[in-house]
Amino acid sequence: MSQDKAFNQGVAPVTYGSGKRPPRGDYARARADYTCEQDYAQYSAADHDTYRRLYARQVQQLPGLACDEFIAAVRQLGEPDRIPYFDAISERLIKTTGWQVVSVPGLIPEEAFFALLAERKFPVTAWLRKPEEFEYIVEPDVFHDLFGHVPLLFNPVFADYMQAYGAGGLKASRLDACELLARLYWYTVEFGLIVTPAGLRAYGAGILSSAGDSVTSPDPQRIAFALKRLMRTRYKIDSYQASYFVIDSFDQLFQATAPDFTPIYRAVRDRIAAEGEVEAGMVLAGERSFN
Ligand code: PHE
Ligand code: FE
Repeated sequence: MSQDKAFNQGVAPVTYGSGKRPPRGDYARARADYTCEQDYAQYSAADHDTYRRLYARQVQQLPGLACDEFIAAVRQLGEPDRIPYFDAISERLIKTTGWQVVSVPGLIPEEAFFALLAERKFPVTAWLRKPEEFEYIVEPDVFHDLFGHVPLLFNPVFADYMQAYGAGGLKASRLDACELLARLYWYTVEFGLIVTPAGLRAYGAGILSSAGDSVTSPDPQRIAFALKRLMRTRYKIDSYQASYFVIDSFDQLFQATAPDFTPIYRAVRDRIAAEGEVEAGMVLAGERSFN
């Protein structure tokens, strides 16, 4: 498969938010916080085989694509040959960063999602895509959620960032600022790039759980992370990304997002009112692009 054709396909990695489709999971058995049993018996032999093939494909594209922190932690998922038990991952995760993996039926409401993150619980969709969705899936499934998101929860700084994001989400809900905050999730947790001595690498789950390449393609813009600029930038959920934001380190990301966002949301809103949003793919005057 050609690299350009494939990058960022494989999942529309919305982890929360509302879609037009009814979500696909079984919500009847979910608890009030939207968590549910993983129900391991639901997985067929064909499911385990699909997981094994997805894992094999993704793991072989990591060198040169993923940051070292991700590569170092991916083996902590265990079980490359079948869907892992979430509890087994949680056992290792709790010891390392205090995070846990919890099972959910699928996409969950924003506030429920934020509340879980704020408690250091990462919601993982229980079901796996069907074999005919091997290349492309419209909702996050167990493979995207586990393979894409969980390795970096073993990194202490990133783990703290994710919890802070959850707490920040609860606050953003009160400030009616979830749309701006969602952009931060999109451009970091899902599609973030990071500078390394070896060159740009990916840490975003949407990139690392999908086929293809976003690090060497000449097409998209790769712009130095700047919080307010990022929050003005629209994103595309159903096609290739036209812009990426590049961090220098997880420490930089953590520090840059530590201040109170209340005045930041206000400033971003004022700027959008005056100058509009920035379309994905645009580079502004004076901006550093890594292309
Ligand atoms: N500092 C942000 C706030 O005050 C919270 C936050 C932290 C949001 C990290 C995202 C990531 O709202
Ligand atoms: Fe995701």
